[in-house]
Amino acid sequence: MISQHSHRKDEHVSLAEKFYTDNDMFNNLRFVNNGLPKYALNDIDFSTKIGPLDLKTPFYIEAMSGGSEHTKKINQRLADIARKTGLAMAVGSESVGLSDPSVRDSFKIVRQTNPNGLIFANIGANHSLEDAQKAVDLISADALELHINVAQELIMPEGDRQFQFIENIQKIVANIKVPVIVKEVGFGMSKETIQELAGLGVQYINVSGRGGTNFATIENFRRPSKDMDYLKNWGLITVESLLESRALDQPLTTIASGGVKSPLDVAKCLAMGASAVGVAGYFLHEIIHKDDDAIVADIKDWQYGLKTIMLMLNCQTIADLKRQRLILNPELISYLNQRNIK
Ligand code: FNR
Repeated sequence: MISQHSHRKDEHVSLAEKFYTDNDMFNNLRFVNNGLPKYALNDIDFSTKIGPLDLKTPFYIEAMSGGSEHTKKINQRLADIARKTGLAMAVGSESVGLSDPSVRDSFKIVRQTNPNGLIFANIGANHSLEDAQKAVDLISADALELHINVAQELIMPEGDRQFQFIENIQKIVANIKVPVIVKEVGFGMSKETIQELAGLGVQYINVSGRGGTNFATIENFRRPSKDMDYLKNWGLITVESLLESRALDQPLTTIASGGVKSPLDVAKCLAMGASAVGVAGYFLHEIIHKDDDAIVADIKDWQYGLKTIMLMLNCQTIADLKRQRLILNPELISYLNQRNIK
């Protein structure tokens, strides 16, 4: 019999695809063209780091899948694509795998398929240190994503109604040996939240903002009464979240995700201070509509596209890209003024 948790995983996948849309969030900022290049395409090096981890490509496959037969197949395909393209990959929340041993394979398959790849574990911040360690061990993870998802839980019919995030995060970051990335799930992060996380000992954050997969919409659809649609615009968009993260005196290592659908979006996130960029909904959309060879080809196009953009900006490295100034539209300038961000 299929468990409630496994069923939820399948529903998240089908609803993320049902509500998948193109968005123009990243059109509210743009780069300034440079006509006199200093570098050749072969000179461009877009490798990056998340603490001790070396990423050959600065974008990666973000947390989505695992916990059911269907999502095991998706994880296997994503892991094979990650292996062929050198991308890092996060698995979806392993919580269901901790309580139900019969679905652990749906996560382990990722490490089996890509034994030498960079793989991130994932679990909610409502879990104990012991559970977090099990999530890492299950897939011999190189890092742990610890997701904070208050809005999602509260809209989710069967979700949590109380939270012990602060205590858990403090214990987990102090004791887990691999980098712990505290991650939103599409509602973004303010500088106040990031500052508080830093105070808890957190070194790595993934702002995961609004603008792509929308868990307010997905969970509202799963509610029998569908009565919480008014929260569909809850949260900060990815662009705002990155500007918030940059406003801190000592910014943490920031990762971006939320609505990234092109190499240009990736470049903009990096220029706003992100060290790496997670992509979830777009890759799920590809998994559903294309075969693996076509997805590998698309990722290679993204790698080429990102290098092209870096060349046109005279940026040889990600550090150069982080120094680029972007032109913001009036709405973003107003946002910065109201939030007292320079
Ligand atoms: C997610 N996301 C997610 N995040 C997480 O930390 N743990 C999880 O288990 C899941 N599960 C999940 C399932 C599906 C089907 C999707 C599409 C997404 C959230 C994801 O990692 C990311 O933060 C957001 O989706 C925003 O990125 P995109 O989708 O707009 O690129």
